[in-house]
This record gives sequence, structure tokens and C-alpha cells, in this order.
Amino acid sequence: MEGSTKFTAVVTDGGKAALVEQEKRPLQEGEVLIRVEASPVNPSDRYMAAGAYGVKKLMSEGPQGLGFDGSGVVIEAHESVDSSLVGKTVSFFEDPHIKGYQGSWRQFLYKKSTDILVFDEGVKPIDCFGTFVNPMTALAIIDFTKKNGHKALVHAAAASNLGKMLVKVAKNEGIPLINIVRRTEQVEALENIGAEHVLNSTSETFEEDLEKLAETLNVTAFFDPIGADFTAKVLDRLPNGSTAYIYGGLGGAPISIGGTSFIFFNKKVQGLWLGPWLDSLTTAEREAVYQQVIDDLSKGGEIFGSKVLETYPITKFKEAINAAEGVASDGKLVINPQLS
Ligand SMILES: NC(=O)c1ccc[n+]([C@@H]2O[C@H](COP(=O)([O-])OP(=O)(O)OC[C@H]3O[C@@H](n4cnc5c(N)ncnc54)[C@H](OP(=O)(O)O)[C@@H]3O)[C@@H](O)[C@H]2O)c1
Repeated sequence: MEGSTKFTAVVTDGGKAALVEQEKRPLQEGEVLIRVEASPVNPSDRYMAAGAYGVKKLMSEGPQGLGFDGSGVVIEAHESVDSSLVGKTVSFFEDPHIKGYQGSWRQFLYKKSTDILVFDEGVKPIDCFGTFVNPMTALAIIDFTKKNGHKALVHAAAASNLGKMLVKVAKNEGIPLINIVRRTEQVEALENIGAEHVLNSTSETFEEDLEKLAETLNVTAFFDPIGADFTAKVLDRLPNGSTAYIYGGLGGAPISIGGTSFIFFNKKVQGLWLGPWLDSLTTAEREAVYQQVIDDLSKGGEIFGSKVLETYPITKFKEAINAAEGVASDGKLVINPQLS
């Protein structure tokens, strides 16, 4: 396949995702060619495949690639690039609001050598396929917490891949965290990885328990990947002046929240999106967060590693999308475009 002039990629157009054949092209100044070997199926990929990802308005018309996160091996470097990169395991982020977006669900990816994370020998693509989307957002949540002066936070859908990372990052930072889940097994799963405060939203006393614990821990920030009517359910129970940071739409409906929260209780609602947060960092800050994730994944991924449930060839990407939602709390389904 490496010698062939064509390769397979997934594109989506008007909510219809399909495999296409693409032509290889010569490398441009500063670029490397990556043989993609692992890419997770994240909720954002599912939305994107269905033509329902919120960033659609920022993207150009026509077919778009699929896949945000991924990893692989550099197989070629432009003459302007350090040739020692060839053979290295690297990871990358395909950000759909940035020009040149290709998507990671493809056999080969062209990338600026300055836009990849490089791993030491011994780290395989399957060890580092998820370096950006969830690890960096977990770190963004901590950054928003600190920069906005919050002393403690509450997080929902906390048995997610990202939620498990956040449990460990918050603990290391000494920031109290209330985790909200919706199933008993999820309470146990989080307690098993060291979570101190886990509430089940299906419990009859959920709202009262949340209010008491939030007051005790001085929680004034809610990081919310659900939206719909869940935002108000939590925000209403937090102290006056608290903020909900919306970063996902798992609830599948617009946020509904009464005006009294804003008028009388000075509550706030704002968004959190990874790409602009990364852009907002200084170069030194960005390098520090990248290094934190590289160091952890290079040592086995205690904090930012993801459990791989199953690997799919690119030809079965639709099966992977369909299966991912039902197993989300257990681990990630991964696409390896090199498998036939
Ligand atoms: N804004 C950003 O820049 C950004 C960046 C990264 C991630 N995200 C968002 O972060 C969220 C988590 O991503 P992930 O990859 O960690 O997810 P994931 O591993 O796929 O897990 C999703 C979790 O959400 C739970 N869930 C699904 N629908 C729910 C609902 N309606 N109410 C309550 N819980 C629900 C699932 O629980 P069950 O097992 O019970 O279904 C599961 O624990 C996603 O919404 C993603 O889009 C946003």
C-alpha cells in the first residue's frame, strides 16, 4: 500500500459518511507523511459523521474528512524537515475549524512537522492515539477552573473517557471534584480509580445531595457535556454566582434554563471548546500541556491512557460508529486504517 499512489479515507457530506479513494501528492515545505495506525471513535466523530457537529458553520461546503484524534508513524519527510522524524511514532489533532483539515480516518495524513507530537522509541501508535481531544480538554477544564478563581468543580457524564482523566488530574492538582454519573456501575468504576465524590443522578436524593456537597466543597463551576435540561438541574443547586461551562451536547437538545437563575442568582453559562483554548495559550504553556500528556503516555498512560475495547479496519468504520455509543463508559473503539 505504501508504494501505491492511492489510499483510502472516510469523508462525510450532508450527514452521509463513505469511503473514498484519494491520490497521494508530493510533500510540501515543512510537511511529513504519516501512516495512520490508530484513531478513536469519539462522540465528536459520531456527530461529525451524521452532519451534526456544531462547528459545521465554520467549515467549507462539500465533503469533509472524519476523525479528530489519531496516531501513526512518519514514513516520509520533506527535505526542509529533520529526516530523523522518519520512523517515529507521532500523534496529531485534526481540527475542523482550521484550514487544511483532512480528518484522521485515512490511511495517510499530510501534516506540518510542527503540528505533531513525537514519541520516543518503544511507544506504539496504539499507546497514544488519543493525545488531544480528551487529555487536552481535561487540562482545559482545570485551567478554566483555576483562571476563573473556582476552588472546586462538578463534572457530569463523569464515567466518560475524559471524566476518568479528570478524576486523576484534579486529584493531582488538589482540586475537589464532584462526579455525576447515571448508573451504579459507573459509581463503582470511578471510586475504583480514586474518585472521592460520586453522585448518581438517578438517585431520589440527587439534587439535595448535590446542593449539600457543593456548599461544603465550595463548588462554583459546573463542566457540562450534557446540556438539555441537565444544565439547570445542576446549576440551580450550586451557590449564587456559579458558572456552567458547556462543552458537549450529549443530552441531544438545546439547553433549557430559567431566567431567574441569571437575574436573581447571578448564575452564568458559557462554552468551552478545545481548539480556541489551545490557541489562547502561550507557546510555553502549550508545550507544557503537550509534554505532560506525552510523558504520561510514554510511561503507560496512568492518567491519559484509554482502554481499547476493539480495533476496526477502516472499511468497518460505520460498524465502529454504531457500536461506540453503547460501550462509551467501558473504553474506546479504535480504527486502524492499515488493517484490511
Ligand atoms: N468542547 C470540547 O472541546 C470537547 C473536547 C473533548 C470532548 N468533548 C465532549 O466531552 C464529552 C465526553 O467525551 P468522551 O470521549 O470522554 O466520551 P465517552 O468516553 O464516549 O463517554 C460518554 C459518556 O457520557 C455518558 N452519557 C451519554 N449520554 C448521556 C446523557 N444523555 N446523559 C448523561 N450521560 C450521558 C455515557 O454514559 P452511558 O455509558 O451511561 O451511556 C458515557 O459515560 C463528549 O460530549 C464530547 O463531545 C468536548
